[in-house]
Amino acid sequence: MPYTDEQLAGLVRGDSVHRALYTDPAIFDIEMQRIYGRAWIYVGHESQVPKTGDYHTTRLGDQDVLMVRAADGRVHVLYNRCPHKGAKVVADGEGCAGKFFRCPYHAWTFKLDGSHLGVPLKQGLEGTSYDPTDPSFSMRRLPRVESYRGFVFASQSAEGQPLVDFLGGVRSSIDNLCDRSPVGEVEVAGGIFRVMQRSNWKVFYENLHDTMHARVTHESSYAAARDEAKEMGEMPLELHIMDGNGEPYEFWEKLELRAYDNGHGYMEGIFNPGAAERDPVSRAHFESLTGAYGEQRAREILGMNRHNTVIYGSGSPHTVFQQFRVIRPVAVDRTLIEIQTFRCKGAPEGVFKRAMLYANVINSPSSNVMPDDIELYNRCQEGNATRGGDWVSMHRYHGTDRVEPDGMVSVNGTSELPMRNQFRAWKAYMEAGAGTGADATAKGDGACC
Ligand SMILES: [Fe+2]
Repeated sequence: MPYTDEQLAGLVRGDSVHRALYTDPAIFDIEMQRIYGRAWIYVGHESQVPKTGDYHTTRLGDQDVLMVRAADGRVHVLYNRCPHKGAKVVADGEGCAGKFFRCPYHAWTFKLDGSHLGVPLKQGLEGTSYDPTDPSFSMRRLPRVESYRGFVFASQSAEGQPLVDFLGGVRSSIDNLCDRSPVGEVEVAGGIFRVMQRSNWKVFYENLHDTMHARVTHESSYAAARDEAKEMGEMPLELHIMDGNGEPYEFWEKLELRAYDNGHGYMEGIFNPGAAERDPVSRAHFESLTGAYGEQRAREILGMNRHNTVIYGSGSPHTVFQQFRVIRPVAVDRTLIEIQTFRCKGAPEGVFKRAMLYANVINSPSSNVMPDDIELYNRCQEGNATRGGDWVSMHRYHGTDRVEPDGMVSVNGTSELPMRNQFRAWKAYMEAGAGTGADATAKGDGACC
């Protein structure tokens, strides 16, 4: 190990972090063990595997895994590895395995929960230590799998907090996302955008609640939106979304930033739901929720005006526009973003169309807004690779964070509290050391739902 635990802890100060956190591949490897080998990480949504045998592959840190629906309806998360020669049993992507998995190399087969089913020409293995009941001849399940309202998380560690405790206060964001459906359920719909960022995974988390960058980084897109609106003589929602980034500093200063344990948090919304209630889509949505929950509850649900939420290690749900930007670290300087959009089941179709509009304007690879950020993430990556200085600043409003029983609240919406909170969690993971994470696997029964 190139770093002692003490050296790792020394890379995070209360008001700054060392640039090695973004640039040193050795630190990335330790993160894969101590954060991604231990924390609850979002795998995917149950609606991505609706029928028996449906599977969906993804990455949990540096591990190839798949989520699969078994015949009894349970969702399992398995390492994508055949125990024979180690081949990935299914190719990256999604599909239906039918009643069982069959490795395309030598036709070893496995039940949908990963357990060993059979091999061809079994007689050739007689008299050897091959034992179909030995778990080492099965596809290995992740030790812990839990679903929260359809969102499936897995942990590579057999021990740790239950999922609901791990999520803490940001459960309310998942709740609000689901409650926007009159039947309380959402489903992934409309395809998934994928964007590879040439930067370290932590930079994106920091940016999600970075209110000071909006009117600077996004000047080109909000200025263009304003010019266009002027020409049109109106500001449609597409332009209104881009225009929001151009609010003056006084606007951002008034927003609330909420930080929770484990690096999670949320930022108040930019868009005014009161104004949105006047448009026909919001009105129809409000009426459908009123029919299901009553007027007061419908107002509460649509009145929760929350912008980005951070589930540290997993990504960022957006409740108002029903997105989940899943953040997958690939290498110290590469991060894959999967952008999922959700349909609120039972809600008017216009609600889903609006979610797709937001995905296209903000999160699509051809968005006018996201490239502004990606350019800056890459500049941070390349600038931090120089010998121009060792520390990255998080000084803004340091020392003023208001402590709550389960986290902290900012005193000003431009505070760098969210970054400090994320690195507080990072440091805690690192200080907890090795030995309780990815190496403590295969003890539990990794299934949910
Ligand atoms: Fe941005």
